[in-house]
Amino acid sequence: MRDLFSYAGKRAVVVGCYSGMGEATARLVGEMGAEVVAVDIREPEIPHSDFLEIDCRDPGSIDSGIDTIVSQGPIDALFYCAGLPGGSFSNADVMSVNFLGQRRFIERCAGHMEQGSAIASISSGAGMAYMMALDRVKEFLAIEDYATALEWVSHEDEAGRIEGYSFSKMCTIVYVLNRGPVLTRETGIRLNCISPGPTDTPMMPHFEKQVGKEFMDAFPKPIGRNSTAEEQAWPLAFLNSPAASYISGENLFTDGGCSGGIMTGSIDPSAMGSD
Ligand SMILES: NC(=O)c1ccc[n+]([C@@H]2O[C@H](COP(=O)([O-])OP(=O)(O)OC[C@H]3O[C@@H](n4cnc5c(N)ncnc54)[C@H](O)[C@@H]3O)[C@@H](O)[C@H]2O)c1
Repeated sequence: MRDLFSYAGKRAVVVGCYSGMGEATARLVGEMGAEVVAVDIREPEIPHSDFLEIDCRDPGSIDSGIDTIVSQGPIDALFYCAGLPGGSFSNADVMSVNFLGQRRFIERCAGHMEQGSAIASISSGAGMAYMMALDRVKEFLAIEDYATALEWVSHEDEAGRIEGYSFSKMCTIVYVLNRGPVLTRETGIRLNCISPGPTDTPMMPHFEKQVGKEFMDAFPKPIGRNSTAEEQAWPLAFLNSPAASYISGENLFTDGGCSGGIMTGSIDPSAMGSD
């Protein structure tokens, strides 16, 4: 039987793989046969063939890191898993790591990737309301220059009009839905993202501190618990595998059904935090 999920002979770049979903993804695709190029601000403990210290807040660091990566071999699969939770992190840093760094990484790498290769990134259920903010998100996405985009964030920040985490996640979804089909048509590279619900990673205590553990505990979880990092790595590995060869420009809600229930009314979001 053909193994449509195999990563044998493939070179996978995993950005943000020191911990959490990125670490789980790097471990998984490594076990599935990939040569793993690890990217983070800290070197991970998981097995990897190469490590590049890249700060995804810094476009110069991203550009020089990608130059090194592409000089050493092809990129068959790119996983962008780096992220910051908001809270004590500035809106500028959150927007940089969660979206602007992501977009730069993807666009720069795509210029060196071959037809049939694939890219997957991580948004969040926090981006679920992207359709309600579509005009504003598209206004921001139209700013291609990194520095100008950060100025826009700073301006919105000063005016108290932006919550960096959810906005970064809406930007990720709209970017993937909008750019995926164009990138695929022009280059044959697929682009998708997942939107996890609450997941037990080192980021979870940050969320619990920001909104309260009671709120996170009462968050609608049709499966009855938080997901594990591995349960998010599996769909990421699927999306970048040949088994997903007809999927591009897709946001996959990996939240046990929570977002679907909220959007169609079978889950009442107002119950959140009231238990
Ligand atoms: N944990 C959750 O409940 C949850 C839910 C939905 C979405 N997400 C998203 O999932 C993604 C992965 O987060 P996680 O939960 O695995 O948390 P995590 O904190 O374990 O992982 C984040 C990774 O990003 C790296 N990183 C942070 N700043 C960086 C920088 N400047 N440059 C390069 N790498 C950097 C960290 O070192 C770490 O490896 C994030 O985008 C997060 O917003 C998390």
